[in-house]
Amino acid sequence: MSPAERIEVLRRDIRSHDHRYFVLDDPVISDYDYDMLVNELRDLESAHPDLITPDSPTRRVGGTPSSTFPVVRHPVPMLSIGNTYNDEEIRDFDRRIRDMLGPESEYAYAVELKIDGVAVSLRYEDGALALGATRGDGEQGDDITANLRTIRSIPLRITERQSVLNNIEVRGEVYIPHDGFRALNELRAEREEPLFANPRNATAGSLKLRDPRIVAERPLRVFLYTLRFEDEAGALAEQPELDSHFQRLGWLAEQGFPTNREARRFAAIGEVIDFCQEWEDRRSSLPYDIDGMVIKVDSIGLHGKLGATMKSPRWAIASKFAAQRATTRLTDIRLQVGRTGVVTPVAELEPVFLAGSTISRATLHNENEIRDKELRVGDTVVIEKGGDVIPKIVKVDKSKRMGSAAQFKMPTVCPVCESTLEREGDEVAWRCRNEACPAQMQARVTHFTARNAMDIEGFGPAVTEQILENGLIGDVGDIYGLTREQLGALERMGEKSADNLLRGIETSRDRPLDRLLFSLGIPHVGERAARQIADRFRSMEGIMAASEEDLVAVPEIGPKIAESIVSFFRNERNLEIVGKLEKAGLNMAMAVPDAAEGGAEGGADAAEGGADDQVLADKIVVITGTLSNYTREEMAGLIASAGGRVTSSVSKKTDYLVYGENAGSKLKKAQSLGVRFLNEEEIEALLTGKQST
Ligand code: IVH
Repeated sequence: MSPAERIEVLRRDIRSHDHRYFVLDDPVISDYDYDMLVNELRDLESAHPDLITPDSPTRRVGGTPSSTFPVVRHPVPMLSIGNTYNDEEIRDFDRRIRDMLGPESEYAYAVELKIDGVAVSLRYEDGALALGATRGDGEQGDDITANLRTIRSIPLRITERQSVLNNIEVRGEVYIPHDGFRALNELRAEREEPLFANPRNATAGSLKLRDPRIVAERPLRVFLYTLRFEDEAGALAEQPELDSHFQRLGWLAEQGFPTNREARRFAAIGEVIDFCQEWEDRRSSLPYDIDGMVIKVDSIGLHGKLGATMKSPRWAIASKFAAQRATTRLTDIRLQVGRTGVVTPVAELEPVFLAGSTISRATLHNENEIRDKELRVGDTVVIEKGGDVIPKIVKVDKSKRMGSAAQFKMPTVCPVCESTLEREGDEVAWRCRNEACPAQMQARVTHFTARNAMDIEGFGPAVTEQILENGLIGDVGDIYGLTREQLGALERMGEKSADNLLRGIETSRDRPLDRLLFSLGIPHVGERAARQIADRFRSMEGIMAASEEDLVAVPEIGPKIAESIVSFFRNERNLEIVGKLEKAGLNMAMAVPDAAEGGAEGGADAAEGGADDQVLADKIVVITGTLSNYTREEMAGLIASAGGRVTSSVSKKTDYLVYGENAGSKLKKAQSLGVRFLNEEEIEALLTGKQST
């Protein structure tokens, strides 16, 4: 046998053993024998480097760490699905389907577990894995191919039949099973790294790591559930012999993809409901988290007929489970000082395992909540993990109260800097007003350097604390002036870490304006609001000059945010910080999209949406009446992201009036002025590009 032939045999065998081990959970050889095969392949490949191919099992972990992930546009948007919370809502869904398809129509449902993980898309070109991406905002996600390649249940090439297909895209959910999650957190505890709150967070965090070698060590798994065929031109290719979603799951399994084996097909909605109930009762027996069931019309042909709203397909719905509960003991109430000085009580709990993770803390929001629930330290409490990550205390079991723990009293001074706490107007929150309070400073720097903000690698909590304690910075504006000598002199900070940190600081200088705006930590200004505002005003100068009136004219920006921004930029200290950041050379303006360049610069600017989806560029739109699938804010957001400007009153300048139910005088006025008006379906068609302006 020639080396080339032996290499082929080894690769085939290893692929098959990977499939048996990671997908079927049914290995047929020992770990030792498996390692021997891999070693032999590695040796042969290093002796014959010309025979190395990217789909070799030895090439799962490759490349060098990347500082950012390229953004990729999904050929077909990755939608989410509507939620139902009880049987009646599932029956409503079925009635809607029947209404749309006609009373005589016949259809079945495929019902699957709703895996609580992170959605991804995998593209195979000519049978080989070519691209792996996150869902992102649904339109575009991050190219995380290098990270997804390390998941050993994901085939790097499709086993057979590759000649009959062109390219395919499969989508599914990456997750971490319970045992892997526990092991991962144990390891992190040993290394004194922060623990992950739950498997979903651990999954999301792992997929965003810059270094595929670390990703390879994370116990990531995947279930794939969507399959799309493409023709040579990249368009959707019908595959009439595979019209059933349920059959497609079978096809995926045949090709070596991990699919969930619990999916079933039912003709009657009653059976669907029973099956969902069965899993709600049995969910804790699974080795991974699910947060509901997904009900899909089985015929792919009907999916086209039923269509989708902008957010979700009409042919699928999620049946969400009620939050899981557990009982534990409240051991203490601690106070946390946030970046704006708000002092929040936090419940310390006796650790309890709930829905895939160990809970030892819960938010208490504010003093009133503690009083309303009559909580006392030592109480037995029922906690619940809802859709959100942070568990909450739902009630106290007073019958179990022993002894006479005192009622909780909110202190009058900051637990960290001891300055007097204040409460504004009718607000419930107590605030520490000392801007130099170490807890606030720490929280502000943590916010500024966080991954979704300026994303400064290496600026962890311990380093931040050290930098602040040593007085190296007085505010976030000083971060860019940190020197190698200063950092190198810190305890436990090696030369290499200091250099890494400086490199992290350096790369963060290029973050776009909206990120910088978010990083400033202006109260109430989240990522989305920051994006909208940066989009509108285009420069820090413009934002600083904006009045409350200018600000509320921006889609999704309400008076509370507007007021907060104006007052932030009235504060001398804040102006000083912005001044320092400007001097440090950070992006104080958005890159101007130049029509001639067509956004060819790529990067973040390309991600803002190319000219082709700006179907409402410069159009003035008014919304009136009640829409059935969106709130007005949502519709305004969609219009804004298509380049339109939403105003409140109809005039001759108005280009479109979008109207819902009970549209009153505005619709009449639009008619009399000759303004074009669109109902919900029409604006949807326009926004999704199914109709032109
Ligand atoms: S189907 C267009 N099936 O739930 C419908 N989604 O809210 C595409 N998910 O983004 C989704 N298990 O991340 C589907 N068996 C399953 C799922 C599933 C988990 C997630 C997925 C999706 C979200 C929908």
